[in-house]
Amino acid sequence: MDKRELIQKITEKKEFSRLPKEDVEMALEKFEKKNLNDYQKIKLTRQFLRKVFSSFSSRKVFSSKGKDVEWYLLKHKSTKERYSFYEEIYSNCLKPFKRASVIDLGAGINGLSYGFFEKLGLKVDYVAVEAIGQFVEVMNTFFEENKLSKKARAYQLSLFDMGSIKQLIEKQKKPRVIFFFKVVDSLEVVKRNYSKELLIELSKISDRVIVSFATRSLGSRQKFGAQRKWLLNFIENEFKILDDFEINGERYISFENKFL
Ligand SMILES: C[S@@+](CC[C@H](N)C(=O)[O-])C[C@H]1O[C@@H](n2cnc3c(N)ncnc32)[C@H](O)[C@@H]1O
Repeated sequence: MDKRELIQKITEKKEFSRLPKEDVEMALEKFEKKNLNDYQKIKLTRQFLRKVFSSFSSRKVFSSKGKDVEWYLLKHKSTKERYSFYEEIYSNCLKPFKRASVIDLGAGINGLSYGFFEKLGLKVDYVAVEAIGQFVEVMNTFFEENKLSKKARAYQLSLFDMGSIKQLIEKQKKPRVIFFFKVVDSLEVVKRNYSKELLIELSKISDRVIVSFATRSLGSRQKFGAQRKWLLNFIENEFKILDDFEINGERYISFENKFL
């Protein structure tokens, strides 16, 4: 099979059917040069994509309609862990802004937490970027049903499409706050050091970037700090840190470009 046919075969499975093509292509490239037959390439690429995209959410999120926000937020691992703490997290992330554009990259279904901005009295124009088409649809349906479409929208885009991401951000009103929650690992397994490149570019066109990562593994709840050293060193060296806090097993580091 040629590349196009392989991609077509890989994305026949529903869970991969609505991923950006470039993400599937980059995953396939990992196995293309190896001495594997088509069946093995398809199998390994799907396994890899599953690791990057679908390990953190219940598949139920894909197929359910008409459930309330709480149901969705509790079905996705990261939003579930954050559920009781959203107000504290968002008030830390946005202070002292009363009004801001939030651009949530690799959002999962985090847009469904929009109500917490309102609870805090914050005026937020919210933009989510997410690779999984089904999540984008869940968020946009929620925004429409709750008459939020004028201030909130989700886009299906790959974070590897740097040009489109930058364009989208530059269209948003200032101050611009970028959420980069639990997304570094997904990018790094596909392309090492890409998140560094992306964070540098993002910092130039935003007022604040907030990167988060888990400080405990979900299963064991044990701390696992060591492998984050490279990320922390990078942020400390390249940016001006504004805040650094940990809430329920997730550490948030807020920073801005040094030269702005
Ligand atoms: C661990 S989840 C975190 C979701 C959300 N940021 C949160 O913390 O609630 C990582 C998310 O990044 C998305 N993602 C991974 N690689 C991506 C890419 N290349 N482009 C866009 N989204 C991506 C995944 O589909 C997934 O929804």
